[in-house]
Amino acid sequence: MHQPRPIYLDHAASTPVDSRVLEAMMPYFSEIYGNPSSIHQFGQAAEQAVEEARERVAHVLGCKADEIVFTSCGSESDNLALRGTMLHARKTGRGNHLVTTPIEHSAVTRTAQQLADLMDFAVSSVTVDEYGQVDPEEIAAACRPDTALVSVMYANNEMGTIQPIAQIADIAHQHGVLVHTDAVQAAGQLPLNVNELGVDMLAVSAHKFYGPKGIGALYVREGVTLPPSQSGGGQENGRRAGTHNVAFIVGLAKALELAYEEADLHNAHYRHHRDRLIDGILSRIPDSRLTGHPDQRLPNNASFVFRGVDGNALLMYLDLKGIAASSGSACKVGNPEPSGVLLSMGIEPEWALGSLRLTVGRQTTDADIDYALDVIPEAVEKIRKLGARL
Ligand SMILES: Cc1ncc(COP(=O)(O)O)c(C=O)c1O
Repeated sequence: MHQPRPIYLDHAASTPVDSRVLEAMMPYFSEIYGNPSSIHQFGQAAEQAVEEARERVAHVLGCKADEIVFTSCGSESDNLALRGTMLHARKTGRGNHLVTTPIEHSAVTRTAQQLADLMDFAVSSVTVDEYGQVDPEEIAAACRPDTALVSVMYANNEMGTIQPIAQIADIAHQHGVLVHTDAVQAAGQLPLNVNELGVDMLAVSAHKFYGPKGIGALYVREGVTLPPSQSGGGQENGRRAGTHNVAFIVGLAKALELAYEEADLHNAHYRHHRDRLIDGILSRIPDSRLTGHPDQRLPNNASFVFRGVDGNALLMYLDLKGIAASSGSACKVGNPEPSGVLLSMGIEPEWALGSLRLTVGRQTTDADIDYALDVIPEAVEKIRKLGARL
């Protein structure tokens, strides 16, 4: 079949910047270039842009503007939430223990690991079911008198499963424990009202919803104190030092606003293509399984495991055929270990090594999916034969 154009099916890794977002950002590079912390009019103009962006982000999240902290990315938002909460809890004698899950992004798991290794915090990880979902009762069972924080992601980056965050938050609060959610994959697709979710902290990253890379935000509920993970100047009410990245903050706000104004349209488009991929792959490829929850999954995520396939070889083959995809999470490319997320769901290593994540986007077309459904079954067959010969 004719390859229509290079086909990008890796929107969970990153998305292109929406032209309307780029346009909103442009004046803040060389026209309105003051430092928002400066007193003069150049500074004031930049400060106004930052504060307007904060209002707009807060509007989407249903919170107050001063509950939004701008950061450099989703990872930094997660770091600030975890390290800040745990250090403050220790200082105030409120706790020493963190509860999390085995399916978190490394921005959470490695931060938790560092808290345990370098600072002697206690960390518990609850189990997940075969769909990668957390049972809120497991969270309740893991909470101890010294638990300071529960951190559970809203939707998973590898297999798209959505967690019952409102129930998790409710149960954690019954134990007097704060709740953080990594909403980096959810933002742009799932409802983001922090009061409906009931969380105390929520992390987002603009490049997952058609904004620029290198800018994120953390919602911090009023009354929650976080010592900064990056210290220095008093920006962001002392929660995050460093001169504001004005253009990117404006870009994040514009991208988030657009994503939610147009969410119904985009989600319907994603679901259409996602479901074609799921049906097409499972019916055409023997020994294939969908990973993640059958319905409680991100609208744009179709992810699979194939028995006896080297996932990285499959990615390289697909790249040669003009299809950009991912095996597990983008950060894991080149790592021959099966994904810990898939193993924690009880998927056997023989299957987990052959994972493929396809994530559709606004520009995905039916012709793209036709082509992908033509090429992927043939690719899996070839890689299997090659593997058998080695
Ligand atoms: C669930 C999740 N959390 C955190 C991150 C890190 O975000 P960033 O790339 O903005 O640091 C990612 C990125 O892939 C992610 O998918």
